[in-house]
Amino acid sequence: MNNVLITGGAGFIGSNFVRYLLRVEPDVCIVNLDALTYAGSLENLRALPDPSRHIFVHGDIRERALVDRLLRAHRVDTIVHFAAESHVDRSILGPGAFVQTNVVGTFTLLEAARDYWESADAPPVTKRFHHISTDEVYGSLRPADPPFSERTPYAPNSPYAASKAASDHLARAYAHTYGLPLTITNCSNNYGPYQFPEKLIPLMLLNALEGKPLPVYGDGLQVRDWLYVEDHCEAIWRVLRAGTPGETYNIGGDNQATNLEIVQTLCEILNACHPDSPHAPFAQLITHVPDRPGHDRRYAMDIRKIQTQLGWSPRHSLAKGLRKTVDWYLRNGAWLEAIRQRGDFRSWMAVNYVGREGVS
Ligand code: NAD
Ligand code: TYD
Repeated sequence: MNNVLITGGAGFIGSNFVRYLLRVEPDVCIVNLDALTYAGSLENLRALPDPSRHIFVHGDIRERALVDRLLRAHRVDTIVHFAAESHVDRSILGPGAFVQTNVVGTFTLLEAARDYWESADAPPVTKRFHHISTDEVYGSLRPADPPFSERTPYAPNSPYAASKAASDHLARAYAHTYGLPLTITNCSNNYGPYQFPEKLIPLMLLNALEGKPLPVYGDGLQVRDWLYVEDHCEAIWRVLRAGTPGETYNIGGDNQATNLEIVQTLCEILNACHPDSPHAPFAQLITHVPDRPGHDRRYAMDIRKIQTQLGWSPRHSLAKGLRKTVDWYLRNGAWLEAIRQRGDFRSWMAVNYVGREGVS
């Protein structure tokens, strides 16, 4: 692995992966292709470990000519595909962008990779296309159901999950039909540094620090399996190094918790950090709001395949990961403030279908 094209590397997980890869792999050069949608920011790429091995390209994965040019100009042998529209709530309000980026964008990358790597110009080294996906493609679990395994049938419920499922199917078909050297990982909910504060954990932190209501959808008893983002990066790298082309690996944190438990834990950590805040105790800000339409009740991942075959396991307990995360957001107030001031963020926070208006 020498020349790696990372898509969506200015977003939450992508920017963490860029940092991780520069840190652990001294020989790798990265081309980072990102459209800088509302979710991507160059602020996420400040102070990289070795910036001389990172080239940022502002562009869209659906632009075939651009992708073709980048693959050839940088003799790309590895593609790590993060770029996506990633927020379920936005997919409910406007699914079109999800079909465009997640389905059409992934198709464009698959075609470009196949075309280049089958050509005479292709670098004479091992190639890999790694497609990043989600546990949400498997649908929703009941309380007593076993966790999702790699053999669980797909049953996506939200437009986001459906668009990711479609992209997974395309990726799988390119491996099966064309022999594209491809791996897929399906991962549970991530949290950690640089997560855009429309998602549960950073949104709750931002609102709590401002003394605003903490909007919990419905009864708050929905269960997610939380993974600290750095553990996800390590798992992706392990699959790239040791995974078998054509295979799918589930990744999760072994950390199931209800949304209410997550929000309460965040409040407790903040109480300890800011006992004199006028907003403490922060749990008094918890406000139940109308539920998300079609809200999946529970996700959980069976991660035995990646554990036994590739020797990866999550390093962070939920308690440790949440403490590190709160600490990062408290130390990076300027990053949070830059997002808070953006017009696109403020207008999103005023969106009403989950009852946010009036609570934010
Ligand atoms: P994110 O929304 O924070 O970042 C997405 C990035 O993709 C942004 O930088 C954005 O500018 C870029 N992008 C969007 N459309 C683009 C386009 N057409 N062309 C080029 N760039 C484009 O997302 P994230 O949370 O970092 O998720 C990254 C990947 O991981 C996604 O594929 C997502 O489905 C998957 N995933 C996320 C989670 C999670 O909890 N966040 C869990 C499992 C899987
Ligand atoms: P989210 O971070 O949007 O991730 P996903 O929908 O991909 O799991 O939400 C995590 C959980 O938190 C989900 O069950 C919805 C819930 N949630 C709230 O209760 N309030 C909020 O303001 C947000 C953003 C999410």
